[in-house]
Amino acid sequence: MIIDRFGRKINYLRLSLTDRCNLHCRYCSPVAPCPRKLSLLPDEQLVLAARTAVRLGIEKIRLTGGEPMLHRNFFKISSDIRNIENLETLALTTNGCYLKGNIARLEQTGFDLINVSLDSADPRRYRDMTGGELKNVMDGLEMLLEAGFCTVKINAVLIRGFNDDPASVDALLELVRFCPADLRFIELMPMPGGRFGTEHYVSAATVLNQLRGRYQLEPQHNDGTSVMFRIPGFAGRIGFIAPVSRKFCNSCNRIRITADGFVLPCLHGRAEFSIRDLEPQEMERVLSSVILAKPASHSLHRGAGAGRIMCAIGG
Ligand code: 5AD
Repeated sequence: MIIDRFGRKINYLRLSLTDRCNLHCRYCSPVAPCPRKLSLLPDEQLVLAARTAVRLGIEKIRLTGGEPMLHRNFFKISSDIRNIENLETLALTTNGCYLKGNIARLEQTGFDLINVSLDSADPRRYRDMTGGELKNVMDGLEMLLEAGFCTVKINAVLIRGFNDDPASVDALLELVRFCPADLRFIELMPMPGGRFGTEHYVSAATVLNQLRGRYQLEPQHNDGTSVMFRIPGFAGRIGFIAPVSRKFCNSCNRIRITADGFVLPCLHGRAEFSIRDLEPQEMERVLSSVILAKPASHSLHRGAGAGRIMCAIGG
């Protein structure tokens, strides 16, 4: 178990496999198509980083991207990581485009948790926002839920004038009326290269208040990052992740590794430390020093921010 300078237990690693993505979401990628430029960490180094992190006390690893399923050895790397002794949870964040056709392999690999990014339930808006085809993602999502081997969450970034109006919010909520998935609205974070300015930011509280007028929201136990509610008659729950208006740095439990092999102590900071070509012992030393270098909190409100575009970090 590893505790940082501020008494936080660090047990979660977000591991980006590639900065490549087939979509080019406007809040994430500066241009379309999504630029790809990182020189990827070799597969063995990725797995070594995961194993080292688990030895230090990491219990949960989430594979991110870009789009992680685009990595050509995605399944091999995933199952190598799944097989690490003492790893409790293997999670994936995906845009959902490659779920269809891969459900059985995802199940065999042993994913415990899959988050699908889906910002609009309207095909035209979805395409406008991401460049992708909604139907493909919906089919994949449906098959994943039907298979039922893992917890499924849907992430929707809130964007003023895009998906924050009652009709758009309702359409997203409809997704979880019959599906046992959590739908989480995420506040838009200012990121380098993001193509939505602060005029598109809408706070979680604004949307929550709007929803209160139309739905009966029953507060649930919060899990650190998200504030969750149950709606009577709904199979899934809804929640809000508010990194901007209600930052959760106090309960931050994570570090990130980028696809080119840098460890980040904080999403919204410029500090990063290379683990490329390191031997296991050195890697362990770097990972633990990064954990101890975690700042008390991010400084987004003071204009500080990430040193990379989102697809080169992985959320
Ligand atoms: N603000 C908020 N959330 C973002 N994501 C990507 N970019 C941003 C941003 N600028 C979300 C994605 C994905 C998760 C990893 O992070 O939608 O679901």
